[in-house]
Amino acid sequence: MSIHKSDIKKITTHQLQEMKNRGEKISMLTAYDYSMAGIIDKAGIDVILVGDSASNVMAGHETTLPITLDQMIYHASSVVRAIDRSLVVVDIPFGNYQSNSSEALRSAIRIMKESGAHCVKMEGGSEIQESVKRIISAGVPVMGHLGLTPQSIFKFGTYTVRAKEEAEAEKLLEDAKLLEELGCFAIVLEKIPSSLAKRVAEEIKIPIIGIGAGPHVDGQVLVMHDMLGITHEFRPRFLRRYTDIHNIMTDAVSRYIEDVKSNDFPNESESYQ
Ligand code: KIV
Repeated sequence: MSIHKSDIKKITTHQLQEMKNRGEKISMLTAYDYSMAGIIDKAGIDVILVGDSASNVMAGHETTLPITLDQMIYHASSVVRAIDRSLVVVDIPFGNYQSNSSEALRSAIRIMKESGAHCVKMEGGSEIQESVKRIISAGVPVMGHLGLTPQSIFKFGTYTVRAKEEAEAEKLLEDAKLLEELGCFAIVLEKIPSSLAKRVAEEIKIPIIGIGAGPHVDGQVLVMHDMLGITHEFRPRFLRRYTDIHNIMTDAVSRYIEDVKSNDFPNESESYQ
């Protein structure tokens, strides 16, 4: 019996809530292109984040700030064409929601209409509440992002752990409660103490997805290029590497070069008669 696309049960924001309610952890990874998104969707990932980390890992920028809305839509539409099951969340990039809620709504609508993605993600708490409210009122699900928010890297000055001090921890908890009240369907917590993430996940009903936030949250997200070992130099404490694609690719490419140079490739069976 063959499985048709229409037989596959798609992940929805409501299912993520049910997963939290029954204690099933949510798996989330980034993807930015058709081929990689297809592999991780077929492997069974729950959520694919078209992160603005594309700015770093795809385009080679030092920060996430330079990536544009058009570029995010290009990445997101490539991902959406590949998926059968996963929920696709897209980062609204820096500069496309901070100035006012009308611009934020226009950006979210462009992402939804032009890429076919299912939801958007935005960094920040009370500062962006009008925009979050307006986007959700228009029917677009929003995932929040608190803690280390890379779009504010020049304000923080470093990528070290956030909210270690009481005041910042309290503000983060208040922001998480606010995002829940505004109707966000989930929140990413990045690089904060495990004990604080645990408190947020216990006090907030919507799913809390961690990256560098310890094990006591409702799900985990990693940048795919990091967990596959493509980004070779990047080795933060929170990262678990599942393979070493950098070495695997280097070895394959070196052998290919050798075979071309020695005229071993192509051989007869790889040639047309
Ligand atoms: O852009 C991204 O990849 C992210 C994750 C680090 C959560 O926002």
